[in-house]
Amino acid sequence: MPWTKKSLKNRIKKIIGNRLLIIASNREPYIHLYREGKIEYIRPVGGAVTALDPVMRVCKGTWVAYGSGNADKEVVDEKSEVRVPPENPKYKLRRIWLTKEEENGYYYGYANKSLWPLCHMAYARPNFDEVEWAYYKIVNQKFADTILEIVKNKKAFVWIQDYHLLLLGKMLKEKNENLLTAHFLHIPWPNPEAFRVCPQKIEILEGLLANDLLGFHIRYHCSNFMETVRLEMEARVDRERTSVTYGGHEAFIRAFPISIDFDENSKSADSKEVEAAMKRLKHEFSTEDNAFLMVGLDRIDYTKGIVEKIQAVDRFFEKFPEYKGKVTFIQKGGLSRMHIAKYKELNEELNNLVEEVNWKHSTEKWSPVIFIRKHMTRTEVTALYKMADACLVSPLHDGMNLVCKEYIAAKNDLNGAVLLSQFTGAARELGDAIFVNPYDRENFAITIKEVIEMPQAEKQKRMKNLRNVVKENNIYKWAGKFLEELKKI
Ligand code: F6P
Repeated sequence: MPWTKKSLKNRIKKIIGNRLLIIASNREPYIHLYREGKIEYIRPVGGAVTALDPVMRVCKGTWVAYGSGNADKEVVDEKSEVRVPPENPKYKLRRIWLTKEEENGYYYGYANKSLWPLCHMAYARPNFDEVEWAYYKIVNQKFADTILEIVKNKKAFVWIQDYHLLLLGKMLKEKNENLLTAHFLHIPWPNPEAFRVCPQKIEILEGLLANDLLGFHIRYHCSNFMETVRLEMEARVDRERTSVTYGGHEAFIRAFPISIDFDENSKSADSKEVEAAMKRLKHEFSTEDNAFLMVGLDRIDYTKGIVEKIQAVDRFFEKFPEYKGKVTFIQKGGLSRMHIAKYKELNEELNNLVEEVNWKHSTEKWSPVIFIRKHMTRTEVTALYKMADACLVSPLHDGMNLVCKEYIAAKNDLNGAVLLSQFTGAARELGDAIFVNPYDRENFAITIKEVIEMPQAEKQKRMKNLRNVVKENNIYKWAGKFLEELKKI
Protein backbone atom coordinates (compact mmCIF):
# COMPACT_ATOMS: atom_id res chain seq x y z
CA MET A 1 0.00 0.00 0.00
CA PRO A 2 1.45 3.45 -0.88
CA TRP A 3 2.39 5.71 1.99
CA THR A 4 0.27 8.83 2.38
CA LYS A 5 -0.32 11.40 5.09
CA LYS A 6 -3.36 9.37 6.12
CA SER A 7 -1.62 6.01 6.22
CA LEU A 8 1.22 7.41 8.33
CA LYS A 9 -1.38 8.92 10.67
CA ASN A 10 -3.11 5.54 10.97
CA ARG A 11 0.08 3.61 11.56
CA ILE A 12 1.96 6.00 13.80
CA LYS A 13 0.32 4.93 17.06
CA LYS A 14 1.08 1.29 16.34
CA ILE A 15 4.66 2.12 15.50
CA ILE A 16 5.68 4.37 18.38
CA GLY A 17 3.06 3.23 20.89
CA ASN A 18 2.85 5.42 23.97
CA ARG A 19 6.33 6.85 23.60
CA LEU A 20 6.80 10.60 23.37
CA LEU A 21 8.16 11.62 20.00
CA ILE A 22 10.90 14.24 20.10
CA ILE A 23 12.71 15.61 17.09
CA ALA A 24 15.95 17.49 17.65
CA SER A 25 17.53 19.68 15.00
CA ASN A 26 19.59 22.82 14.88
CA ARG A 27 17.26 24.71 12.54
CA GLU A 28 13.73 25.43 13.71
CA PRO A 29 10.76 24.96 11.35
CA TYR A 30 9.30 28.43 12.05
CA ILE A 31 11.30 31.56 12.79
CA HIS A 32 9.56 34.57 14.36
CA LEU A 33 10.90 37.94 13.30
CA TYR A 34 10.15 41.61 13.82
CA ARG A 35 9.15 43.28 10.57
CA GLU A 36 8.25 46.96 10.69
CA GLY A 37 7.44 46.66 14.37
CA LYS A 38 5.15 43.64 13.90
CA ILE A 39 5.90 40.00 14.68
CA GLU A 40 5.83 37.74 11.63
CA TYR A 41 7.18 34.29 10.94
CA ILE A 42 9.07 32.71 8.07
CA ARG A 43 9.76 29.10 7.14
CA PRO A 44 13.44 28.45 6.51
CA VAL A 45 14.33 26.80 3.19
CA GLY A 46 16.72 24.02 4.31
CA GLY A 47 16.12 20.40 3.37
CA ALA A 48 15.67 19.11 6.90
CA VAL A 49 12.85 21.43 7.90
CA THR A 50 11.11 21.20 4.52
CA ALA A 51 10.95 17.44 4.90
CA LEU A 52 10.19 17.12 8.60
CA ASP A 53 7.48 19.69 9.15
CA PRO A 54 4.81 17.63 7.30
CA VAL A 55 5.87 14.55 9.30
CA MET A 56 5.54 16.36 12.62
CA ARG A 57 2.13 17.71 11.63
CA VAL A 58 0.99 14.09 11.40
CA CYS A 59 3.01 12.51 14.21
CA LYS A 60 2.62 15.35 16.75
CA GLY A 61 5.19 15.43 19.56
CA THR A 62 7.82 18.06 20.32
CA TRP A 63 10.45 19.54 18.04
CA VAL A 64 13.49 20.87 19.89
CA ALA A 65 15.56 23.44 18.00
CA TYR A 66 17.66 26.55 18.36
CA GLY A 67 15.53 29.71 18.53
CA SER A 68 17.23 31.98 16.00
CA GLY A 69 14.59 34.63 15.25
CA ASN A 70 14.75 38.07 16.85
CA ALA A 71 11.10 37.74 17.95
CA ASP A 72 11.29 34.05 18.93
CA LYS A 73 11.33 34.84 22.66
CA GLU A 74 8.19 36.97 22.38
CA VAL A 75 5.87 34.14 21.37
CA VAL A 76 6.93 31.26 23.65
CA ASP A 77 5.54 30.27 27.05
CA GLU A 78 7.52 29.88 30.28
CA LYS A 79 8.93 26.55 29.05
CA SER A 80 10.17 28.25 25.85
CA GLU A 81 7.52 26.39 23.87
CA VAL A 82 5.17 27.55 21.15
CA ARG A 83 2.62 25.53 19.19
CA VAL A 84 3.14 25.47 15.42
CA PRO A 85 2.36 25.84 12.53
CA PRO A 86 1.30 29.27 13.79
CA GLU A 87 -1.81 29.40 11.60
CA ASN A 88 -3.02 25.91 12.51
CA PRO A 89 -1.06 24.41 15.43
CA LYS A 90 -0.34 20.70 15.30
CA TYR A 91 2.80 20.15 17.39
CA LYS A 92 5.08 21.81 19.93
CA LEU A 93 8.26 23.68 19.12
CA ARG A 94 10.62 23.90 22.10
CA ARG A 95 13.25 26.56 21.56
CA ILE A 96 16.79 26.45 22.91
CA TRP A 97 18.55 29.76 23.43
CA LEU A 98 22.19 30.14 22.52
CA THR A 99 24.60 32.90 23.44
CA LYS A 100 26.47 34.72 20.64
CA GLU A 101 29.62 32.79 21.61
CA GLU A 102 27.79 29.47 21.42
CA GLU A 103 26.25 30.30 18.06
CA ASN A 104 29.64 31.36 16.74
CA GLY A 105 31.55 28.37 18.04
CA TYR A 106 28.96 25.63 17.49
CA TYR A 107 27.01 26.72 14.37
CA TYR A 108 29.28 29.01 12.35
CA GLY A 109 32.37 27.29 13.74
CA TYR A 110 32.47 23.53 14.24
CA ALA A 111 29.27 22.62 12.37
CA ASN A 112 29.83 24.78 9.32
CA LYS A 113 33.57 25.42 9.12
CA SER A 114 34.63 21.88 10.10
CA LEU A 115 31.89 19.30 9.51
CA TRP A 116 30.13 20.82 6.48
CA PRO A 117 33.23 20.96 4.22
CA LEU A 118 34.57 17.70 5.69
CA CYS A 119 31.45 15.77 4.71
CA HIS A 120 30.80 17.42 1.32
CA MET A 121 34.28 17.00 -0.13
CA ALA A 122 33.71 19.93 -2.50
CA TYR A 123 37.35 21.03 -2.42
CA ALA A 124 36.82 23.34 0.53
CA ARG A 125 39.29 22.72 3.30
CA PRO A 126 37.73 22.01 6.69
CA ASN A 127 39.06 24.11 9.51
CA PHE A 128 39.22 22.59 13.01
CA ASP A 129 39.40 24.74 16.08
CA GLU A 130 39.54 23.56 19.71
CA VAL A 131 37.42 26.40 21.06
CA GLU A 132 34.71 25.84 18.44
CA TRP A 133 34.74 22.14 19.25
CA ALA A 134 34.28 23.00 22.94
CA TYR A 135 31.22 25.11 22.05
CA TYR A 136 29.91 22.31 19.84
CA LYS A 137 29.99 20.01 22.87
CA ILE A 138 28.39 22.62 25.13
CA VAL A 139 25.48 23.13 22.73
CA ASN A 140 24.97 19.38 22.20
CA GLN A 141 24.81 19.09 26.00
CA LYS A 142 22.25 21.91 26.11
CA PHE A 143 20.06 19.97 23.70
CA ALA A 144 20.54 16.80 25.79
CA ASP A 145 19.58 18.57 29.05
CA THR A 146 16.47 20.09 27.49
CA ILE A 147 15.32 16.77 26.04
CA LEU A 148 15.93 14.92 29.31
CA GLU A 149 13.88 17.56 31.08
CA ILE A 150 11.00 17.11 28.61
CA VAL A 151 11.11 13.31 28.86
CA LYS A 152 11.56 12.98 32.63
CA ASN A 153 10.80 9.32 33.35
CA LYS A 154 8.43 8.77 30.42
CA LYS A 155 9.13 6.47 27.51
CA ALA A 156 10.36 8.40 24.51
CA PHE A 157 11.84 8.18 21.07
CA VAL A 158 14.31 10.91 20.16
CA TRP A 159 14.89 11.47 16.48
CA ILE A 160 18.09 13.47 16.02
CA GLN A 161 18.73 15.36 12.79
CA ASP A 162 21.91 16.23 10.98
CA TYR A 163 25.53 17.12 11.58
CA HIS A 164 25.00 19.78 14.23
CA LEU A 165 24.11 17.24 16.91
CA LEU A 166 26.47 14.32 16.34
CA LEU A 167 27.17 13.87 20.06
CA LEU A 168 23.59 14.05 21.26
CA GLY A 169 22.73 10.33 21.03
CA LYS A 170 25.52 9.39 23.41
CA MET A 171 24.80 12.25 25.80
CA LEU A 172 21.16 11.13 26.04
CA LYS A 173 21.89 7.43 26.44
CA GLU A 174 24.43 8.07 29.18
CA LYS A 175 21.73 9.69 31.30
CA ASN A 176 18.77 7.53 30.28
CA GLU A 177 19.49 4.20 28.65
CA ASN A 178 15.78 3.45 28.18
CA LEU A 179 15.48 6.16 25.61
CA LEU A 180 15.22 5.00 22.03
CA THR A 181 17.36 7.24 19.85
CA ALA A 182 17.95 7.46 16.12
CA HIS A 183 20.06 9.87 14.11
CA PHE A 184 19.46 10.88 10.51
CA LEU A 185 22.21 12.61 8.54
CA HIS A 186 20.89 15.06 5.93
CA ILE A 187 24.32 15.55 4.38
CA PRO A 188 26.65 13.02 2.76
CA TRP A 189 28.92 10.83 4.86
CA PRO A 190 32.38 11.12 3.28
CA ASN A 191 34.73 8.29 2.44
CA PRO A 192 37.19 7.18 5.17
CA GLU A 193 40.15 8.99 3.55
CA ALA A 194 38.33 12.30 3.86
CA PHE A 195 37.00 11.68 7.35
CA ARG A 196 40.25 10.50 8.87
CA VAL A 197 41.72 14.03 9.03
CA CYS A 198 39.13 15.07 11.60
CA PRO A 199 40.89 15.47 14.99
CA GLN A 200 37.65 14.73 16.86
CA LYS A 201 36.73 11.69 14.76
CA ILE A 202 36.58 9.13 17.57
CA GLU A 203 34.33 11.22 19.80
CA ILE A 204 32.06 11.86 16.81
CA LEU A 205 31.83 8.20 15.87
CA GLU A 206 31.20 7.24 19.50
CA GLY A 207 28.44 9.86 19.64
CA LEU A 208 26.73 8.36 16.61
CA LEU A 209 27.20 4.70 17.53
CA ALA A 210 25.36 5.17 20.82
CA ASN A 211 22.11 5.49 18.81
CA ASP A 212 19.87 2.53 18.06
CA LEU A 213 19.45 3.44 14.41
CA LEU A 214 21.52 5.57 12.06
CA GLY A 215 19.99 6.78 8.81
CA PHE A 216 21.64 8.14 5.68
CA HIS A 217 20.05 9.16 2.37
CA ILE A 218 21.71 6.49 0.23
CA ARG A 219 23.54 3.19 0.61
CA TYR A 220 26.80 4.73 -0.52
CA HIS A 221 26.83 6.95 2.58
CA CYS A 222 26.00 3.92 4.77
CA SER A 223 28.96 2.01 3.40
CA ASN A 224 31.24 5.02 3.75
CA PHE A 225 30.20 5.22 7.39
CA MET A 226 30.70 1.52 8.08
CA GLU A 227 34.07 1.53 6.36
CA THR A 228 35.08 4.57 8.42
CA VAL A 229 34.16 2.76 11.63
CA ARG A 230 36.00 -0.40 10.51
CA LEU A 231 39.20 1.57 9.91
CA GLU A 232 39.05 3.88 12.90
CA MET A 233 37.64 1.88 15.80
CA GLU A 234 37.70 -1.40 17.67
CA ALA A 235 34.13 -2.22 16.69
CA ARG A 236 32.34 -5.18 15.10
CA VAL A 237 31.06 -4.20 11.67
CA ASP A 238 28.45 -6.68 10.49
CA ARG A 239 27.77 -6.36 6.77
CA GLU A 240 24.95 -8.96 6.82
CA ARG A 241 22.94 -7.11 9.44
CA THR A 242 24.36 -3.74 8.35
CA SER A 243 25.07 -2.87 11.94
CA VAL A 244 27.98 -1.87 14.11
CA THR A 245 28.51 -3.13 17.65
CA TYR A 246 30.62 -0.89 19.82
CA GLY A 247 30.99 -1.10 23.60
CA GLY A 248 28.35 -3.86 23.69
CA HIS A 249 25.73 -1.74 21.90
CA GLU A 250 24.50 -2.53 18.40
CA ALA A 251 23.57 0.38 16.11
CA PHE A 252 21.77 -0.42 12.87
CA ILE A 253 22.70 1.49 9.72
CA ARG A 254 20.09 2.02 7.00
CA ALA A 255 19.41 4.16 3.92
CA PHE A 256 16.24 6.25 3.83
CA PRO A 257 16.08 8.64 0.85
CA ILE A 258 14.29 11.73 2.12
CA SER A 259 11.55 13.41 0.13
CA ILE A 260 8.67 15.89 0.11
CA ASP A 261 4.90 15.88 0.53
CA PHE A 262 4.26 15.28 -3.17
CA ASP A 263 0.44 15.52 -3.05
CA GLU A 264 0.48 18.76 -1.10
CA ASN A 265 3.11 20.36 -3.36
CA SER A 266 1.28 19.22 -6.46
CA LYS A 267 -2.10 20.44 -5.21
CA SER A 268 -0.85 23.86 -4.19
CA ALA A 269 0.73 24.31 -7.63
CA ASP A 270 -2.80 24.49 -9.07
CA SER A 271 -4.04 27.09 -6.60
CA LYS A 272 -5.33 30.53 -7.56
CA GLU A 273 -2.61 32.11 -5.38
CA VAL A 274 0.11 30.44 -7.44
CA GLU A 275 -1.58 31.56 -10.67
CA ALA A 276 -1.64 35.14 -9.40
CA ALA A 277 2.00 34.94 -8.27
CA MET A 278 3.00 33.68 -11.72
CA LYS A 279 1.43 36.72 -13.35
CA ARG A 280 3.22 39.02 -10.93
CA LEU A 281 6.59 37.33 -11.41
CA LYS A 282 6.31 37.28 -15.21
CA HIS A 283 5.65 40.99 -15.08
CA GLU A 284 8.49 41.61 -12.60
CA PHE A 285 11.04 39.70 -14.69
CA SER A 286 9.56 40.83 -18.02
CA THR A 287 9.74 37.32 -19.36
CA GLU A 288 8.32 36.79 -22.81
CA ASP A 289 5.68 34.08 -23.03
CA ASN A 290 7.56 32.22 -25.74
CA ALA A 291 10.99 32.46 -24.07
CA PHE A 292 12.52 29.30 -22.64
CA LEU A 293 12.85 29.80 -18.90
CA MET A 294 15.35 27.91 -16.75
CA VAL A 295 15.32 28.20 -13.00
CA GLY A 296 17.65 27.35 -10.11
CA LEU A 297 16.96 27.62 -6.37
CA ASP A 298 19.73 27.19 -3.85
CA ARG A 299 21.05 28.49 -0.60
CA ILE A 300 24.15 30.53 -1.43
CA ASP A 301 26.60 27.80 -0.51
CA TYR A 302 29.77 26.68 -2.29
CA THR A 303 28.56 23.05 -2.32
CA LYS A 304 25.56 24.03 -4.46
CA GLY A 305 27.67 24.77 -7.53
CA ILE A 306 25.95 28.08 -8.34
CA VAL A 307 29.11 29.61 -9.78
CA GLU A 308 29.64 26.55 -11.99
CA LYS A 309 26.01 26.71 -13.11
CA ILE A 310 26.22 30.36 -14.16
CA GLN A 311 29.50 29.67 -15.92
CA ALA A 312 27.78 26.85 -17.83
CA VAL A 313 24.98 29.24 -18.82
CA ASP A 314 27.63 31.71 -19.95
CA ARG A 315 29.32 29.01 -22.03
CA PHE A 316 25.95 28.03 -23.50
CA PHE A 317 25.43 31.55 -24.85
CA GLU A 318 29.01 31.68 -26.11
CA LYS A 319 28.61 28.42 -28.01
CA PHE A 320 25.04 28.92 -29.17
CA PRO A 321 24.50 32.68 -29.62
CA GLU A 322 21.35 32.00 -31.65
CA TYR A 323 19.63 31.49 -28.28
CA LYS A 324 20.34 35.02 -27.07
CA GLY A 325 17.07 36.72 -26.20
CA LYS A 326 15.22 33.41 -26.35
CA VAL A 327 16.44 31.74 -23.16
CA THR A 328 16.61 33.21 -19.66
CA PHE A 329 18.03 31.74 -16.48
CA ILE A 330 16.52 32.81 -13.15
CA GLN A 331 18.56 31.88 -10.09
CA LYS A 332 17.07 32.38 -6.65
CA GLY A 333 19.84 32.41 -4.06
CA GLY A 334 19.04 32.47 -0.36
CA LEU A 335 21.67 34.24 1.76
CA SER A 336 23.19 31.74 4.16
CA ARG A 337 25.80 31.51 6.95
CA MET A 338 27.02 35.02 6.15
CA HIS A 339 29.31 35.24 9.19
CA ILE A 340 31.62 32.71 7.57
CA ALA A 341 34.21 34.33 5.29
CA LYS A 342 33.82 31.71 2.54
CA TYR A 343 30.11 32.44 2.21
CA LYS A 344 30.68 36.20 2.10
CA GLU A 345 33.30 35.72 -0.60
CA LEU A 346 30.99 33.45 -2.59
CA ASN A 347 28.22 36.04 -2.44
CA GLU A 348 30.63 38.65 -3.73
CA GLU A 349 31.89 36.31 -6.45
CA LEU A 350 28.32 35.68 -7.60
CA ASN A 351 27.59 39.42 -7.81
CA ASN A 352 30.61 39.91 -10.04
CA LEU A 353 29.95 36.85 -12.16
CA VAL A 354 26.31 37.69 -12.84
CA GLU A 355 27.26 41.25 -13.73
CA GLU A 356 29.99 40.03 -16.08
CA VAL A 357 27.87 37.39 -17.84
CA ASN A 358 24.98 39.83 -18.28
CA TRP A 359 27.28 42.54 -19.58
CA LYS A 360 28.76 40.09 -22.08
CA HIS A 361 25.54 38.72 -23.56
CA SER A 362 22.67 41.09 -22.80
CA THR A 363 20.77 43.05 -25.40
CA GLU A 364 18.68 46.17 -24.90
CA LYS A 365 15.64 44.23 -23.84
CA TRP A 366 17.07 41.02 -22.44
CA SER A 367 19.55 39.75 -19.84
CA PRO A 368 20.56 36.11 -19.70
CA VAL A 369 20.73 35.79 -15.90
CA ILE A 370 18.31 37.14 -13.31
CA PHE A 371 19.64 36.65 -9.78
CA ILE A 372 17.08 36.98 -6.98
CA ARG A 373 18.21 37.33 -3.40
CA LYS A 374 15.01 38.49 -1.69
CA HIS A 375 13.00 36.06 0.43
CA MET A 376 10.26 34.37 -1.57
CA THR A 377 7.13 32.82 -0.08
CA ARG A 378 6.25 29.18 -0.76
CA THR A 379 3.60 30.42 -3.18
CA GLU A 380 6.15 32.45 -5.15
CA VAL A 381 8.63 29.58 -5.22
CA THR A 382 5.94 27.25 -6.57
CA ALA A 383 5.00 29.89 -9.15
CA LEU A 384 8.64 30.02 -10.25
CA TYR A 385 8.70 26.23 -10.63
CA LYS A 386 5.52 26.32 -12.69
CA MET A 387 6.86 29.03 -14.98
CA ALA A 388 10.14 27.22 -15.63
CA ASP A 389 10.66 25.02 -18.68
CA ALA A 390 13.66 23.46 -16.97
CA CYS A 391 15.11 23.32 -13.48
CA LEU A 392 18.90 23.37 -13.12
CA VAL A 393 19.98 21.50 -9.99
CA SER A 394 23.74 21.15 -10.10
CA PRO A 395 25.42 20.86 -6.68
CA LEU A 396 29.03 19.76 -6.50
CA HIS A 397 27.88 17.33 -3.81
CA ASP A 398 24.54 17.07 -2.02
CA GLY A 399 23.12 14.50 0.40
CA MET A 400 19.77 14.41 -1.40
CA ASN A 401 18.44 17.76 -2.77
CA LEU A 402 14.74 18.46 -2.47
CA VAL A 403 14.51 21.35 -4.95
CA CYS A 404 14.35 18.92 -7.87
CA LYS A 405 11.60 16.94 -6.14
CA GLU A 406 9.57 20.09 -5.44
CA TYR A 407 9.94 21.16 -9.06
CA ILE A 408 8.72 17.76 -10.25
CA ALA A 409 5.71 17.89 -7.92
CA ALA A 410 4.74 21.33 -9.25
CA LYS A 411 4.76 20.17 -12.87
CA ASN A 412 1.20 18.89 -13.08
CA ASP A 413 1.10 19.66 -16.81
CA LEU A 414 4.31 17.61 -17.37
CA ASN A 415 5.93 20.54 -19.18
CA GLY A 416 9.36 20.68 -17.67
CA ALA A 417 12.73 19.00 -17.48
CA VAL A 418 15.22 18.43 -14.67
CA LEU A 419 18.94 18.89 -15.26
CA LEU A 420 20.48 17.15 -12.29
CA SER A 421 24.00 16.87 -10.94
CA GLN A 422 25.18 13.29 -10.84
CA PHE A 423 26.63 14.08 -7.40
CA THR A 424 23.32 14.45 -5.59
CA GLY A 425 21.58 11.73 -3.60
CA ALA A 426 18.51 12.42 -5.75
CA ALA A 427 20.39 11.24 -8.86
CA ARG A 428 20.11 7.63 -7.58
CA GLU A 429 16.32 7.82 -7.61
CA LEU A 430 15.49 10.14 -10.48
CA GLY A 431 16.67 8.13 -13.46
CA ASP A 432 14.63 10.22 -15.92
CA ALA A 433 16.41 13.45 -15.08
CA ILE A 434 19.04 14.68 -17.53
CA PHE A 435 22.39 14.35 -15.82
CA VAL A 436 25.25 16.81 -15.72
CA ASN A 437 28.67 16.93 -14.16
CA PRO A 438 28.84 20.47 -12.74
CA TYR A 439 32.65 20.46 -13.03
CA ASP A 440 32.37 19.89 -16.81
CA ARG A 441 31.35 23.30 -18.13
CA GLU A 442 31.51 22.34 -21.80
CA ASN A 443 29.18 19.38 -21.49
CA PHE A 444 26.89 21.23 -19.12
CA ALA A 445 26.44 23.92 -21.81
CA ILE A 446 25.75 21.29 -24.47
CA THR A 447 23.25 19.54 -22.18
CA ILE A 448 21.36 22.81 -21.72
CA LYS A 449 20.98 23.00 -25.49
CA GLU A 450 19.88 19.37 -25.68
CA VAL A 451 17.19 19.98 -23.10
CA ILE A 452 15.90 23.05 -24.90
CA GLU A 453 15.71 21.11 -28.14
CA MET A 454 14.38 17.87 -26.67
CA PRO A 455 11.01 16.92 -28.23
CA GLN A 456 8.06 17.78 -26.03
CA ALA A 457 6.83 14.18 -25.99
CA GLU A 458 10.17 12.95 -24.66
CA LYS A 459 10.18 15.60 -21.92
CA GLN A 460 6.65 14.71 -20.93
CA LYS A 461 7.45 11.01 -20.80
CA ARG A 462 10.40 11.68 -18.53
CA MET A 463 8.43 14.04 -16.31
CA LYS A 464 5.65 11.49 -15.97
CA ASN A 465 8.12 8.87 -14.77
CA LEU A 466 9.81 11.31 -12.42
CA ARG A 467 6.45 12.23 -10.90
CA ASN A 468 5.59 8.58 -10.33
CA VAL A 469 8.86 8.08 -8.47
CA VAL A 470 8.46 11.13 -6.23
CA LYS A 471 4.77 10.44 -5.61
CA GLU A 472 5.59 6.91 -4.50
CA ASN A 473 8.76 7.77 -2.54
CA ASN A 474 7.20 10.64 -0.63
CA ILE A 475 8.05 12.03 2.80
CA TYR A 476 5.44 9.86 4.54
CA LYS A 477 7.11 6.77 3.15
CA TRP A 478 10.48 8.05 4.39
CA ALA A 479 9.11 8.62 7.90
CA GLY A 480 7.05 5.42 7.92
CA LYS A 481 9.96 3.26 6.80
CA PHE A 482 12.29 4.89 9.31
CA LEU A 483 9.89 4.38 12.21
CA GLU A 484 9.03 0.83 11.16
CA GLU A 485 12.71 -0.02 11.08
CA LEU A 486 13.07 1.35 14.57
CA LYS A 487 10.15 -0.77 15.70
CA LYS A 488 11.84 -3.92 14.35
CA ILE A 489 14.92 -3.08 16.40
O1 F6P B 1 20.24 20.09 3.71
C1 F6P B 1 21.19 20.02 4.69
C2 F6P B 1 21.01 21.11 5.71
O2 F6P B 1 21.93 20.96 6.71
C3 F6P B 1 19.74 21.12 6.41
O3 F6P B 1 19.65 20.22 7.41
C4 F6P B 1 19.74 22.52 6.84
O4 F6P B 1 18.52 22.91 7.29
C5 F6P B 1 20.16 23.17 5.57
O5 F6P B 1 21.18 22.39 5.14
C6 F6P B 1 20.31 24.63 5.68
O6 F6P B 1 21.37 25.05 6.43
P1 F6P B 1 21.23 26.07 7.60
O7 F6P B 1 20.34 25.43 8.61
O8 F6P B 1 22.61 26.29 8.06
O9 F6P B 1 20.59 27.31 7.05
